[in-house]
This record gives sequence, structure tokens and C-alpha cells, in this order.
Amino acid sequence: MKISLRDVSARHPAAKATTAAALRGLSLQMASGEQVAVIGPSGAGKTTLLHLLCCALPPSTGCLELNARDPWKLPRGQLQRLRGELFLAPQVPPLPPRQRVVTAVLAGRLPQIGLWQSLRSLFYPTAITQADAALARFDLSDKLFARVDRLSGGERQRVGLARALVTQATLLLVDEPLSALDPTRGLQALVSLTQAAQERGATLVCTLHHVEMALQHFPRIVGLRDGALAFDLSAAEVTPERLRALYAQHLHELTGPGPAAPDLPVAVLPPRVMNCR
Ligand SMILES: Nc1ncnc2c1ncn2[C@@H]1O[C@H](COP(=O)(O)OP(=O)(O)OP(=O)(O)O)[C@@H](O)[C@H]1O
Ligand SMILES: [Mg+2]
Repeated sequence: MKISLRDVSARHPAAKATTAAALRGLSLQMASGEQVAVIGPSGAGKTTLLHLLCCALPPSTGCLELNARDPWKLPRGQLQRLRGELFLAPQVPPLPPRQRVVTAVLAGRLPQIGLWQSLRSLFYPTAITQADAALARFDLSDKLFARVDRLSGGERQRVGLARALVTQATLLLVDEPLSALDPTRGLQALVSLTQAAQERGATLVCTLHHVEMALQHFPRIVGLRDGALAFDLSAAEVTPERLRALYAQHLHELTGPGPAAPDLPVAVLPPRVMNCR
């Protein structure tokens, strides 16, 4: 799916009128099939951007286009169909506690095939095979019939990601997929996600706090800061200086004013950033 944002600002409905908009004057273009990581400090607007792209939040000003059409100007039926092409994997997937993993994964297809067909498909071996294959890519084959409330936090997060693989979505939006995963599973999850998106030619937009992983696995990096675009570069162009500027306020909160301390957590900033003074 092709994405175009022109000078887009967005405000959460519950936000006070006196607070700044969560996204401000954002302009971005993404080609169909592109894979983009969105990084930036907490509160920068990363999740808000995903909500905007999955049409859960309308722009307050500016223009959003998905496949060259403004989703908010489409008739209701067409907007519904378009939403079926969008898939958002939230940081904490909303999984009903007593549900079986297989049902939770296949529920990912609900926006495309509807509730009735989705329930019926549970009885078809092909659907179960599909769920099993998706789970296998996240090392969860043995949990196919386990209850969701008997999974660890990381396993639940991977069930949420496996859902993305059973959908037909052409825009995959993934929010902090590594937050509950150990380094090995995190790596495996990112590889599975990027491969699956590539195989079906879907556009992938993924927010990440783990900057090193973003630079290693995504060709293009969008940096957000205070709701605005800080940079939009290829991974090779993201220099330590740019990263330091992106996270500068964050660093001062951790270290106080003056030069940043060299012993910042590796998970947040890559080692080469810390070496750059
Ligand atoms: N539902 C909401 N109602 C009102 N304000 C919100 C809501 N969700 C987020 N915000 C505000 O919008 C801004 C951007 O939040 P957002 O969740 O997009 O940040 P983020 O970059 O995803 O942060 P994090 O890395 O912590 O997940 C923040 O100032 C936040 O307080
Ligand atoms: Mg967020």
C-alpha cells in the first residue's frame, strides 16, 4: 500500500486543548512494499502515527492518502474495505483470556473475512494449518491449542505478531514488537515480520525503541521527536550525531545537563552512539 502524508497534524480526542498536538506538520511518502522503522523518544508520536495510518485517528489538519485516496473522504463501505487491508499489531495485543491461541491468531483475519466466515474457518484444517505455520515463524507451534491466559507476556506478544501473518493486509503496522521479547526471540520475530511483509509485497511500518535492531533490519528510518519529523533517512545515513540529537532531551533526563554519560543502556542506543562525543 502506498502512503502519503502532507503536512499532517493529529490530536487525540481526549487530549487537553492546551497541550501540543501529538503529531505536527508531518510529511512522508512511502512506496508500496517499503519497510520503514519509526524511532524516537517516548511520547514522540510513534504510536499515534500508527493509529493515524490505520485510520483509527483522523488528521486534524493536512492530508493523509492511502493508495492515493483520502480514507476519511471515502463512503463508509469503501472505508470499511480499506480498513480490511490495514493491520495494526499493538504493543500489548488485546487477547481474550480464555481464548485458544489458534482462535486468537485466526481472529487476525476478522476485518477481511467477517465474523461468521472467520468462525466457520476454525473448522477447516487449512485455516488451522495456516495458524500453525504463522505460529511456527515465531517459535510457538507447541502452543496452538494453549489458552491465551496461560502464556507468558512474550508469548502473548508473539501471538499478536503471528496474527499479522494470517491476514491479507497490504499495510502492516507494528508497534514495539520487541518490548516483551528476549534478544533471540526479538531477532527471530523481526526477521519473520520483514520476510512475511516482503513475500506478500506489503508495506511495513514498525516502531522500535531498539535502535540497533532498527538500523540492522530496516532500509529506511524515520525519526520522530515531539510529534515532528526529525529525519527520514536510509539506515546507512543515520549517524551517531543524528541519534544523539534525536534522543538529546532523553539523555539529559538520564544524565543531567552537560555531555551525555558514556554508559547509557545498550538496548536504547547503539554502542557507536556512546563512543561519539
Ligand atoms: N489516548 C490519548 N489521549 C491523549 N493523549 C495521548 C493519547 N495517547 C497518546 N497521547 C499523547 O500523545 C503524545 C504521543 O504519544 P505516543 O503514544 O504516540 O508516543 P510514542 O512515541 O508512541 O511513545 P512511547 O515510545 O512511549 O510508546 C504524548 O504526548 C502522549 O501523552
Ligand atoms: Mg508508543
